[in-house]
Amino acid sequence: MKTAIVTGAARGIGLASALRLARAGHDIVIVDLLADEAARAADSIRSTGQRARVAIADVSDLAAALRIADETVAEFGRIDLLVCNAGRTMSKGLLDITEAEWDATIDVNLKSAFCWARAVAPHMQAAGGGRIVNISSLNAITGGVTRAVSKFAYAAAKAGILGLTRSLSKELAPLIAVNAILPGIIETDINAAQVSANREMLQDSILLQRLGRPEDIAAWVAFLGAEPDMFVTGQSVVVDGGQWVT
Ligand SMILES: NC(=O)c1ccc[n+]([C@@H]2O[C@H](COP(=O)([O-])OP(=O)(O)OC[C@H]3O[C@@H](n4cnc5c(N)ncnc54)[C@H](O)[C@@H]3O)[C@@H](O)[C@H]2O)c1
Repeated sequence: MKTAIVTGAARGIGLASALRLARAGHDIVIVDLLADEAARAADSIRSTGQRARVAIADVSDLAAALRIADETVAEFGRIDLLVCNAGRTMSKGLLDITEAEWDATIDVNLKSAFCWARAVAPHMQAAGGGRIVNISSLNAITGGVTRAVSKFAYAAAKAGILGLTRSLSKELAPLIAVNAILPGIIETDINAAQVSANREMLQDSILLQRLGRPEDIAAWVAFLGAEPDMFVTGQSVVVDGGQWVT
């Protein structure tokens, strides 16, 4: 029996990843702010036969991360996998964003990955190994700025995830493999308005001619997070249906 902590697993990519991991035999700890949705997600996980626990916390709160990691080991015995998935976009340009909005964007999208790696790494090392999968974004390499909208602060935070992933893969080797996924456009609540207003244009920008689904990312989370003979660390995988190369 394995245990995975998945942040932001109340819905979207995090929920799809948690369900995929549960079907592959993981007990799941859901970390999220949305109590009702997290409780429903936990019920879905339990219906696979695995155990589920909900921890309501802000992912950028280090003290909470340390406490939840300790509680996870106390209840489930170990932490095999951390999926740092919770995140939030910020659509404001350089001249409009406030200092508080910049800080909040960096906290939820970048500081969170530091907090959770810091919290789980000692437990993984004590148990002889583990995996960390960080969810970045295609915006990390495109810059996240179009004529219509600037997500520059979000893009900066998600680019920070790539540096953190490479650095931690070195610091935590050989016991812990650390990798990142850069999703392209995946249909979830985070971008529902943007997608419904521009669906055809967005589909046309993707070589595989469809928007991504949360399950597309979950498949890579499961591979990087749980494939037994995975010989990869410090890497970042773009999962975007071929949008970036166009
Ligand atoms: N959907 C996309 O197109 C897309 C593309 C690239 C990257 N991503 C990234 O994928 C991840 C998941 O996004 P999604 O599309 O599933 O979004 P979503 O909004 O559907 O889900 C995000 C989850 O994170 C939780 N969350 C947000 N802030 C939190 C906080 N401070 N503390 C705890 N939980 C918090 C939310 O409550 C929610 O359950 C995010 O990091 C996002 O940046 C998404």
